Amino acid sequence: MKPQTPPQTYRVKSFGCQMNVYDGERMGELLAERGIQPAPEGEEADLVILNTCHIREKAAEKVYSDIGRLVKAGEEAGKKPLIAVAGCVAQAEGEEIMARAPAVSIVVGPQAYHRLPEMLDRAVNGERATDTDMPAIAKFDALPARAKRGPSAFLTVQEGCDKFCTYCVVPYTRGAEISRPFSHLVTEAQKLVEAGAKEITLLGQNVNAWEGEDEKGRRTGLGGLIRRLAEIDGLARIRYTTSHPNDMDEDLIAAHGEVAKLMPYLHLPVQSGSDRVLKAMNRQHTADSYLKLIEKFRAVRPDIALSGDFIVGFPGETEAEFADTLKIVDEVRYAACFSFKYSPRPGTPAATMDGQIAPDVMDDRLQRLQQRIGQHQYAFNQASIGKRCEVLVERKGRHPGQWLGKSPWLQSVHFEGDHAIGDLVEVTLAEAGPNSLKGMVAAAVRA
Ligand code: SAH
Ligand code: SF4
Ligand code: F3S
Repeated sequence: MKPQTPPQTYRVKSFGCQMNVYDGERMGELLAERGIQPAPEGEEADLVILNTCHIREKAAEKVYSDIGRLVKAGEEAGKKPLIAVAGCVAQAEGEEIMARAPAVSIVVGPQAYHRLPEMLDRAVNGERATDTDMPAIAKFDALPARAKRGPSAFLTVQEGCDKFCTYCVVPYTRGAEISRPFSHLVTEAQKLVEAGAKEITLLGQNVNAWEGEDEKGRRTGLGGLIRRLAEIDGLARIRYTTSHPNDMDEDLIAAHGEVAKLMPYLHLPVQSGSDRVLKAMNRQHTADSYLKLIEKFRAVRPDIALSGDFIVGFPGETEAEFADTLKIVDEVRYAACFSFKYSPRPGTPAATMDGQIAPDVMDDRLQRLQQRIGQHQYAFNQASIGKRCEVLVERKGRHPGQWLGKSPWLQSVHFEGDHAIGDLVEVTLAEAGPNSLKGMVAAAVRA
C-alpha cells in the first residue's frame, strides 16, 4: 500500500452488543488524544473503523459489503479512507479479511485496540497491520480518561466467557472470563459521573461472573461492586447486562431489594424452554431452575421487569420442544425479549450437529415466538399505566417540546415540558403502546 496523509477525522461504526459500543467509544477517545476528530455528520471520514460482530452469519457477512460501500463512497468523494476492521469478526477472521479485502489497512481484535494508534502510524506509512492478541487487562490500563458524554453510560467490568454454549462464538472471539479490578471500576465510574453520566450500565458477556476484592480486601461479587458504586454522589441509576443464570449469587439477588439506585430490570437469557435443547446447548441449567431463580428476584423486588434472549431452530428442535419455549415465555411474562434464528457458526459444536432445521421452519417459529413476546411486552406496558416513576431524559422527541427517556423498567417514555437531556423527571404513565408509553409530568427532580 502507498503511504497516506495522516487522518484528521474518524468514524466508528459499531455492530453487535453493548460491549462493542463501549469499545467503540474507547477507540474514539484514543483517536481524540491524537487530535483526530469525529467526522461531521454526512461527510466521509479519513479513517473508518468497522467494529464488527460475529454472533450470527448475517452480522459477519455485512462486514464485506460495508467495506465495498466505503471504497465506493470514498471514490465518489475523491478520497481513499483508511479502513480498520475491529471487533469480533476481526478476531475470528483477521487473516481472511486481509486476504479478501485489500482496501483494509488495519485488523484489530477486541482485546488489542489500545494499540490502535501505533497500528495507525504503520498504516499511514503504507504497511498493513494485524493485532489479535488477547492481553485483556493491559488494554484497560492503556486507555485514556473518559470523555464527556450523554446521561447514560456503559462501563465494561468483565470480559470473555468460559461457558462454551455449543452454538456460540463469544468464548473464541473474546477469550476467557476476566474481571477488571474493583478500584479501577470505582474510579472509572466516578469519572463517568463527573463527565455527565446519571446512569451507568455495567457490561460483561457474563457480567455477573465479575468478582474482585473490595477496598478492605474482601472477596466480593457483582452485588458488592454495585453497593459501592451506589455510594457515588450524582449517580442516580445502575443497571447491568448480560447475566448468565448459573452465575447468580444470593448477594446480587439481595441487592435488588436493598439498593435503591439499582433499577428493577434484569436481562436473563434462557435461550429455550426445553430441557433437552438446553442440554444440547450446554447451558448447564434447566427451564425449572431458571424459573426458580426468577421467583427469587420477584420475592425481593416484586415489580422487577424481565427480559431474555431466545434461539429458535437449534439443531434437532422439535415442534413440541419449541412449544416449551412458548410456554416459558408465558410463565415468565417478559417485559421485552430478543429472539433469533439459530445460525451455525464455524468452529462451534452445534454447527456440525445432526438435525439442522430448515429455514422455513425457523421463520415460522420465530414469527410465532415474536408474536407471543410482543403480546407480553404490550401487556407489561399496559399494566404500567397509572404508575408514578422517574424518567431519565435521553433526547428530544420528534415534536417540539417533546422529550424521550427511559423508565426504571427500561421502557421508552415520551412526555412534554420544559426539560433538558440528563434531567430526571417524575411522570405518571398515562398511555401505553406496544413499544413506548406516554407520561404526564408530575415534577422535575434533581435536574
Ligand atoms: N452472554 C450472553 C449473550 C451472548 S450473545 C448470554 O449468554 O446470554 C447474545 C445472544 O445472541 C445470545 O443470548 C443468543 O440468544 C444469541 N446467539 C448467540 N449465538 C447464536 C447463534 N449461533 N445463532 C443465533 N443466535 C445466537
Ligand atoms: Fe455465548 Fe453462552 Fe457465553 Fe453467552 S454464556 S456468551 S451464549 S457461550
Ligand atoms: Fe457480537 Fe462480539 Fe458482542 S460477537 S454480540 S460483538 S461479543
